[in-house]
Amino acid sequence: MQDEQTRTVLVTGAGGGVGRATTQALAERGFRVYAAVREPGGEVPRHPDVRTLRLDVTDPAGIADAAALVRSDGCTALHGIVNNAGIIVQGPLELVSPHDLRHQFDVNVFGAVAVTQAFLPLLRTGHGRLVNITAATARVAGPFFGPISASKAALQSLSDAQRLELAHWGLPVVVIEPGLIDTTIFSKAAAATAKAKAALSPAQLALYEAQVDAVDAAFAKSKPAAPEIVADAVVKALTARKPQPRYTVGPDTRLLGLLARLPLRTRDRLLAGVMGLNKIPAAR
Ligand SMILES: NC(=O)c1ccc[n+]([C@@H]2O[C@H](COP(=O)([O-])OP(=O)(O)OC[C@H]3O[C@@H](n4cnc5c(N)ncnc54)[C@H](OP(=O)(O)O)[C@@H]3O)[C@@H](O)[C@H]2O)c1
Repeated sequence: MQDEQTRTVLVTGAGGGVGRATTQALAERGFRVYAAVREPGGEVPRHPDVRTLRLDVTDPAGIADAAALVRSDGCTALHGIVNNAGIIVQGPLELVSPHDLRHQFDVNVFGAVAVTQAFLPLLRTGHGRLVNITAATARVAGPFFGPISASKAALQSLSDAQRLELAHWGLPVVVIEPGLIDTTIFSKAAAATAKAKAALSPAQLALYEAQVDAVDAAFAKSKPAAPEIVADAVVKALTARKPQPRYTVGPDTRLLGLLARLPLRTRDRLLAGVMGLNKIPAAR
């Protein structure tokens, strides 16, 4: 294993809330970080050990170029790959377009796998660790969050399989499951939703209007945690002598953990109550 001063980590989505905090935390711990951003100009922490890398996780040629660039930069081994890039696609499943649903999986699932595949040879050389950021909602899919929850459940499942596959080389695979975190992912999702709604008819929009409003109102009352708590978990995953396979992060994850263990009917009833859906008269 490389000495901590020279350990190198790749972080995708490094210009976002969690990615930025993670990049900062790793650089402060003496790691060298390849901070991968979808587009140049992302807000990556300025630090002598942080090198910005352009990488759109949905672009296979771009991923290959990024891996080649890292090698030509003299990096021969990675201590960590942090698959953090992600988006939220939301809305009633009846109305989510096939394109948007596919894009959700392209970024959150296929993108993470493609990045892992491209950088795994470097991780193997570095006896490193794979860290995938999923979400607590992977275990409890709430109404109108089907696409994001399903994508994170898929990544969770792929991570479980790969943990067993990479154990042969002693490479840990760690899942970080954050609860609600205060980043701009939600405003970006809201903007994407507004765009998607413009393609729907008033009759289609009316179908779910009351339910969506209730869920929005419930969501507005929630208190997201700071992205630094996720960064701390990533640091732990990359530095613990024996990292846990899964870290759940955030005050709201305990409730989600409890909900996940309930019988489905009970869970649905509770969720409908929390979201205010049970106050809406049923459709005839
Ligand atoms: N915030 C939460 O409550 C929460 C909860 C659970 C899990 N998570 C997960 O935590 C991770 C980080 O999210 P965040 O909250 O920090 O959101 P964020 O601030 O929006 O950061 C996400 C980052 O991913 C990047 N990204 C999006 N599409 C990409 C693509 N095709 N290629 C490369 N990068 C891409 C974004 O870049 P652009 O801005 O340029 O698109 C952004 O820098 C995500 O995987 C998210 O699902 C977040």
